[in-house]
Amino acid sequence: MTAGIGTVIDAVYVVAILVFILGLKAMSSPETARRGIVYAGAAMLAAVVVTFFSPGLSNFLLIAIGVFVGGGIGWYWARVVRMTAMPQMVAIFNGMGGGAAAAIAAVVLLSPASNAADAGLSVAGAIIGSTSIAGSIIAFLKLQGWLPGKPIVLPARQGINLAVLVIGVGFGVYSVLRGDLAFLLPFFVLLLLYGILLTLPIGGADMPVIISLFNALTGIAVALDGFALVNGPLGDAGYAMVIAGVLVGAAGSLLTVLMARAMNRSIGNVVFGAFGATEETGVELHGSLKPIEVADAAVMMEYANQVLIAPGYGMAVAQAQQRVKELTDVLTAKGVAVKFAIHPVAGRMPGHMNVLLAEAGIDYDRLLDRDEANPEFAHTDVVLVIGANDVVNPAARRVGSPLQGMPILDVDQAKNVIVIKRGQGKGFAGIENDLFYKDNCRMLYGDAQQVVGKLVQALKHS
Ligand code: TAP
Repeated sequence: MTAGIGTVIDAVYVVAILVFILGLKAMSSPETARRGIVYAGAAMLAAVVVTFFSPGLSNFLLIAIGVFVGGGIGWYWARVVRMTAMPQMVAIFNGMGGGAAAAIAAVVLLSPASNAADAGLSVAGAIIGSTSIAGSIIAFLKLQGWLPGKPIVLPARQGINLAVLVIGVGFGVYSVLRGDLAFLLPFFVLLLLYGILLTLPIGGADMPVIISLFNALTGIAVALDGFALVNGPLGDAGYAMVIAGVLVGAAGSLLTVLMARAMNRSIGNVVFGAFGATEETGVELHGSLKPIEVADAAVMMEYANQVLIAPGYGMAVAQAQQRVKELTDVLTAKGVAVKFAIHPVAGRMPGHMNVLLAEAGIDYDRLLDRDEANPEFAHTDVVLVIGANDVVNPAARRVGSPLQGMPILDVDQAKNVIVIKRGQGKGFAGIENDLFYKDNCRMLYGDAQQVVGKLVQALKHS
């Protein structure tokens, strides 16, 4: 009977693993991403449910309470979260995975039955999981604005960080080798401290990369814990954890590399470079800010051969995507070609602009990535920048600028640029934007949703 249940459970784990892989594949395209998330979520639910039937499982009530309380909080939070607060929610949810991995490692280490190999794996899982949860909490506090977003740089931080890491790991290894559990507490405390110290010097603009890195680390910690569990009573759940963890670790690592590349930075520079801690001085911008009225902007767009729209974080703040869809429709009806230039780190999370534009029903065919868009600007009559700043800042081409080397959208190459923003607010990197002072640039001030709405009305009545 027990063997029969075990076979069914194994079969469900195998199916769940296959569906995880299918889900991940579907997530690689915006058109199928939603389906991919449903697949992966359903597979995870099935894996969790069958684990309750594992022979030898005890503490049902405690586990069920944990699942309902944790699941309930996650469900509610994900439903009410504003789109602009999504990065910090992702950060804290990832961190919880790291915390869970560290907790599982602690259970294995405290279990008298665990062998040396399992203990070693658990120490590794605990190191990575503890760093990930502590770092993710700091990332959450920074993105939420409860800690300053700028890098918090302690003197001699590299030396202090290394010392904390080495002493912490030393406690863990010593504890396992000597079988002395008294050293586990300082081990966990120092690793949590390491996660905090590692994340404090990371500036807001680098947060997406570090969140993604912690996500990858969480996956690796879960996989290591899975290996340690394989020999125990829940061995099959261990295999499922190994594969789920490896998938998360691989996908998170790839995303981290891609994002760092999009900012033209190495991962080492993001993690250890305290980007944004020093400000560029002595830069004089020439030219002036030249405002434009809605009616004039509408006429310029109406007579353009092509309008390229470059959206950014301000579009998300204003929730202007529906108005942007109306603008696209009205211009298209007038024979103007409308396309979108999407920078990979526009907004505050990977794919932020794609998600908002897809939500508004804008055709995916209209979206150009940075490499496709950049050659188009020189042939474009009007570029409409909606709440973007850093990703269109030509200062990135200037030696010494904090943005130096970040590949940008070359919107300044267009014949005319119209920038919608509320006032003189800076972008995430906190620096002036050379674009706004150029001769071909006009400023259309106001909240993006209201201004784009007015543009639509002006175009409809012209
Ligand atoms: P930002 O550089 O952050 O600039 C956004 C601009 O939108 C601001 O200058 C602001 O100016 C304007 N704005 C804000 N609210 C607005 C509203 N309601 N209506 C109209 N305009 C509004 O945005 P970006 O160009 O998208 O660049 C993204 C930055 O965030 C990059 O530095 C990137 O590295 C970083 N980052 C990216 C991510 C990912 S993965 N996408 C995650 C975290 C950080 P006003 O205040 O004058 O209106």
